[in-house]
Amino acid sequence: MLPESHSVIAIAAPGGPEVLQLVTRPIPTIGEGEVLIKAAVAGVNRHDVGQRKGGPKHASSDVPGLEVAGSIVAKGSRVTEFKLGDEVCALVDGGGYAEYVKAPAANTLPKPAGFSNLEAASLPEALFTTWYNVFNIARAEPGDKILIHGGTSGVATIAIQLLSNKGFDVFVTCGEDRKCDFALKLGAKVASNYRTSNFVEEIMKSTNRQGVQVVIDMSGGAYPDQNLEAIAFGGVIIHLTPGSTPFNVPLSKLMAKSAWITGTRLRPVSVSEKEKIANALRAEVWPLLGSQIKPVIHQVFSLGEAAEAHRLMEQNKHIGKILLKIQ
Ligand SMILES: NC(=O)c1ccc[n+]([C@@H]2O[C@H](COP(=O)([O-])OP(=O)(O)OC[C@H]3O[C@@H](n4cnc5c(N)ncnc54)[C@H](OP(=O)(O)O)[C@@H]3O)[C@@H](O)[C@H]2O)c1
Repeated sequence: MLPESHSVIAIAAPGGPEVLQLVTRPIPTIGEGEVLIKAAVAGVNRHDVGQRKGGPKHASSDVPGLEVAGSIVAKGSRVTEFKLGDEVCALVDGGGYAEYVKAPAANTLPKPAGFSNLEAASLPEALFTTWYNVFNIARAEPGDKILIHGGTSGVATIAIQLLSNKGFDVFVTCGEDRKCDFALKLGAKVASNYRTSNFVEEIMKSTNRQGVQVVIDMSGGAYPDQNLEAIAFGGVIIHLTPGSTPFNVPLSKLMAKSAWITGTRLRPVSVSEKEKIANALRAEVWPLLGSQIKPVIHQVFSLGEAAEAHRLMEQNKHIGKILLKIQ
């Protein structure tokens, strides 16, 4: 028997972490292609910090949270691939900081064998983001070289392991030496401290001055010149984070490299396109989980401590995932 209401973290107003408030709401109703997950763990993502700053008026939900792990307690009439009680993890369109979370069945994956709920909840946002940008957008191929700024972010700690296992050379930048050391242990070929070194020179030296085929940039547009110096001819620079200052691109460098500069957001991508990514992840990544790819968990908070989790994320000291344990 499902309860009528549950605890969620809602955004009371635009502002600091203190606007995240534990409130009681009716549990979500599900559509015919959706499942209702009793959440054990929710992932905290940098996106949630931005959503919080923007306030409660979000088109999908004023409850942040894009990924959860838990068990299925209800399912829509069209859902055939899961049964009640199945342990899963899912990419969701908000609503993740909650006891009960609805998810499209098509964007839900089985909890990987041997994984805890903490580990499973660390996967969806990082894996969908990496797969979407590297394969769907950049159309990269094994052997390509990929530079990721924000090398110890929740996303990158998974991306480094996934991509190095798939035959890519991964280069990263980080803001501290200890973060660089960690990224190297995860499989990065080169990790540059952008505060103390010239990362472009380090990349050019280790690529025979050819540069990288793909840049994944979480810096908010901090490197328009450096990215174009580091990119290989015909390469793709993908921005994942909007900056707060105007983004000025040196056109002569862009044209000389025939490079592409774009920016993407995963959240508005359709459920059906995400379903294709989910299928690819299930086939190509799930067999590697545990043996070749292990989530890096920095710290776990309770649902009621969501504000503390956001404070920690905004200090930029963490390595890997920050999570909320729901039950
Ligand atoms: N567009 C999309 O669809 C999408 C999807 C997923 C994630 N993202 C973005 O990808 C990034 C990683 O996500 P996450 O949740 O894994 O984040 P996270 O764990 O909070 O890591 C972000 C890290 O990036 C580094 N960084 C460099 N420049 C930064 C800047 N201007 N602002 C904030 N951090 C900066 C920081 O480490 P250093 O000390 O090394 O600088 C920081 O710890 C975030 O920027 C997020 O918004 C975008």
